Amino acid sequence: MINTNLQFNNKLTHVIDNYIKFKIRKYNQIEGFLSQKEAIALYKIASILPKNSTIVEIGSWKGKSTYCLAKGIKSGKVIAIDPFDASGDDTSAIIYNQQRGKTSLLQQFKLNMIKLDVIHKIEIYQGYSQDFVGSISAIDFLFIDGDHSIEGCSQDFLNYSDQIKVGGYIAFHDYYLSRKELGPTWVIENKVSSSGRYKFSNLSDSLWIGQKIK
Ligand SMILES: C[S@@+](CC[C@H](N)C(=O)[O-])C[C@H]1O[C@@H](n2cnc3c(N)ncnc32)[C@H](O)[C@@H]1O
Repeated sequence: MINTNLQFNNKLTHVIDNYIKFKIRKYNQIEGFLSQKEAIALYKIASILPKNSTIVEIGSWKGKSTYCLAKGIKSGKVIAIDPFDASGDDTSAIIYNQQRGKTSLLQQFKLNMIKLDVIHKIEIYQGYSQDFVGSISAIDFLFIDGDHSIEGCSQDFLNYSDQIKVGGYIAFHDYYLSRKELGPTWVIENKVSSSGRYKFSNLSDSLWIGQKIK
């Protein structure tokens, strides 16, 4: 019986994932740093939020993850925070500058969101996450994918965690058990888990998701 239930659940997950894959198929048209499993997981969380939700994304780049969040959310908005200048922690900034392209990043982001018809769900906050502390509250889903240093990622968690509603979600990109020196891994293991305020919800590739319980 247990095996049959498991098989049924696996099949159901497969069907749902294929449906989402189809819904967000155009995510392939955007350059970025997100696997298909991670894209599906972001969509799933966005799609189970209540009506009129607020999603905050720290680190939007050209809009790959922003698109998945905007496709998933039923109503409400996705606040996309990024300086759109290819800056970041030292290691990442080298890659960003190699991959930024010729036109401005802000322009590329906007054009992608317009082309894929999600721009109406997005509010662009051009600047660093630390610039907007205090101006955003009642967050249903916080997605952290900005500064990947231990210091930068810790600041994002400390600055925004209190603004997440109980029952809401937090996600970090680039969580790797074997890479303790990375900001997301360090913050999850040393701040999020020990806070006692989040329960683990899901890990899809390097996307770690937790739910706020108090
Ligand atoms: C890894 S990329 C984001 C990838 C994107 N989520 C995707 O799906 O392709 C990180 C982005 O965060 C931005 N960034 C770096 N530090 C930031 C900060 N303090 N606040 C907001 N964005 C930041 C970088 O400029 C870059 O555009």
